[in-house]
Amino acid sequence: MKIAFTGTGRVGSPLARRLAEAGHDVCLARADEPSSSLEAALQRSSRLSALPMKEALEHAEAVFLAIPFQAVEGLLPDMADKLSGKILVDCTNPVGPGLSHGLKSVRSGSEAIQSLVPAARVIKAFSIYGYENLEDPAYPDYPQKPVMMFCGDDISAKQSVSTLIADCGFEPFDVGPLAQALHLEHMTLLWVRMVRAGGYSPHMVWGLMRREASSPPR
Ligand SMILES: NC(=O)c1ccc[n+]([C@@H]2O[C@H](COP(=O)([O-])OP(=O)(O)OC[C@H]3O[C@@H](n4cnc5c(N)ncnc54)[C@H](OP(=O)(O)O)[C@@H]3O)[C@@H](O)[C@H]2O)c1
Repeated sequence: MKIAFTGTGRVGSPLARRLAEAGHDVCLARADEPSSSLEAALQRSSRLSALPMKEALEHAEAVFLAIPFQAVEGLLPDMADKLSGKILVDCTNPVGPGLSHGLKSVRSGSEAIQSLVPAARVIKAFSIYGYENLEDPAYPDYPQKPVMMFCGDDISAKQSVSTLIADCGFEPFDVGPLAQALHLEHMTLLWVRMVRAGGYSPHMVWGLMRREASSPPR
């Protein structure tokens, strides 16, 4: 798949590298200003290339948004026509004071993003853990892979993102429409509060267990 990254920091860099190593055609979008994070990401993998923002977006079938949530309002309106019909993978999290929800839990960041780029197919993914687990998703002591919950309204976009999630080493789990993003953002806050403020190890993820539907409810 042809993929572009806007934001190549702690989240964008490992995801871009993993997807390029999985065989995808990944380019990093250069803004007008020089970016040390973009240069560092390029240094980490010879499979990555960079293009000016406009060309990167034109080239891509899927665009990863891995910038601070506060920056999306400044960036996205100018990108709206280029993102029309494309998959926009929203990795951002709106975080407010005291590790609260940045939009006061009234609506999700992903829905706010969708309203800025109405013709894009927004999927929230890769957002519920810290970057440590994007760098290394392996938990070799367990039989299952870490679950990566994602949501969105466009079925075919979700199928594509599900494949990308698996390519990054996670078990994809579709949790429903984009309206579910608010709840994923609260799951993120749970993890962030535990790890960044509560002393838990960042090397902690959630696992998915299922039972056959024929099992009688208790
Ligand atoms: N850190 C985590 O563990 C984690 C986990 C899951 C999700 N997230 C979410 O993922 C997003 C990125 O987080 P991060 O930790 O990767 O941040 P980061 O390491 O600070 O990297 C931010 C990236 O966004 C770019 N950027 C900053 N302001 C921008 C703007 N106005 N326009 C365009 N690009 C801009 C930066 O470019 P320069 O380097 O050139 O400034 C950099 O490439 C955030 O929304 C965060 O909430 C973070």
